[in-house]
Amino acid sequence: MRRIRTYNEVDHGTGSRLLEQVLEQHERLGARLAQVGAVVAVLSGKGGVGKSFVTAGLASALAASGRSVGVVDADLNGPSMSRMLGCEGARLGDAPDGVVPALGALGVRVMAMDLLQDTPDAPLRWKEPEGGHGALWQSSAETAALREFLGDVAWGELDLLLVDVPPGTDKIGRLLGLVPGLDAAVVVTTPGEVARSVVARSLRMVTEAGVPAVGLVSNMSGFRCPGCDALHPLFPGDAPARLAKRFRVPIWGEFPLDPEAGASMDRGEVDRLLEAGRLPGVHFRALAGALEASLGEARAATQGGAPSVGAPAVGGAP
Ligand SMILES: Nc1ncnc2c1ncn2[C@@H]1O[C@H](COP(=O)(O)OP(=O)(O)OP(=O)(O)O)[C@@H](O)[C@H]1O
Ligand SMILES: [Mg+2]
Repeated sequence: MRRIRTYNEVDHGTGSRLLEQVLEQHERLGARLAQVGAVVAVLSGKGGVGKSFVTAGLASALAASGRSVGVVDADLNGPSMSRMLGCEGARLGDAPDGVVPALGALGVRVMAMDLLQDTPDAPLRWKEPEGGHGALWQSSAETAALREFLGDVAWGELDLLLVDVPPGTDKIGRLLGLVPGLDAAVVVTTPGEVARSVVARSLRMVTEAGVPAVGLVSNMSGFRCPGCDALHPLFPGDAPARLAKRFRVPIWGEFPLDPEAGASMDRGEVDRLLEAGRLPGVHFRALAGALEASLGEARAATQGGAPSVGAPAVGGAP
């Protein structure tokens, strides 16, 4: 049986410098992320549960509290960060040390595939090398694109870099491959059983990888009536509580399905949600606080110091 060759063997005698190129890319990525306080993945494994909604709101809440924040939209095929953060159609700049990210709401720096495309609704098509092998090529092209989004963008110094991870546990594995020192995972779930069974796989993945700060967000935990503001049950199920118990992770945030908030988000007006007193804004700020407290605890634990005050676990319907 033929064995798959390693980079070293492929490189041998071909003059391609393949090994050097790969090592250079890793070094560039490492040097770039050294300027970032914490890399935080917002993930689920499950599609459509509100990962992008949470990423945009969390990034904006962190920025509103004075943090310098970047967002990588790792959803190359269905990007939504530039829309939600209000910088859709922005032009990316070019600096000596990389692509200059777009500026979204509250100064959040954004890198997303649609910012590289001429028309907003163009589907992404990778040109494969002659001879086919399209499926193999696509996966490595997507990994290369994500590595460039992380490593070849002139992020400058950042307190936090958030990554909106598309559905599929394979996408979580891809990110962990590129960023083995991922600092935190914000794991989004809805209440139902189908979400629970998928999100359990993702939680296993990040906890087994040793990600030091992991917390859950319970999204669409009820329906907030736009007329009377009352909270009604929506999906049956207690996925967040069961997952929290099984994986011994806190629930960092809880969001009802709030049609007005969804509409604001989809219009790119996330900053309006953070206006004083507005409910999703209150919840996004609480989530930002829980994440930062947990990151602080994880840092204190690795430095051998006394842990800081525990992350507030947000429980119960708001
Ligand atoms: N709590 C919420 N209240 C109101 N609208 C919400 C809420 N959560 C998400 N939405 C809306 O639901 C839609 C789907 O959410 P979103 O795009 O964030 O899901 P996703 O998990 O990122 O999906 P995908 O798997 O396709 O990336 C969006 O229009 C979003 O604004
Ligand atoms: Mg999304």
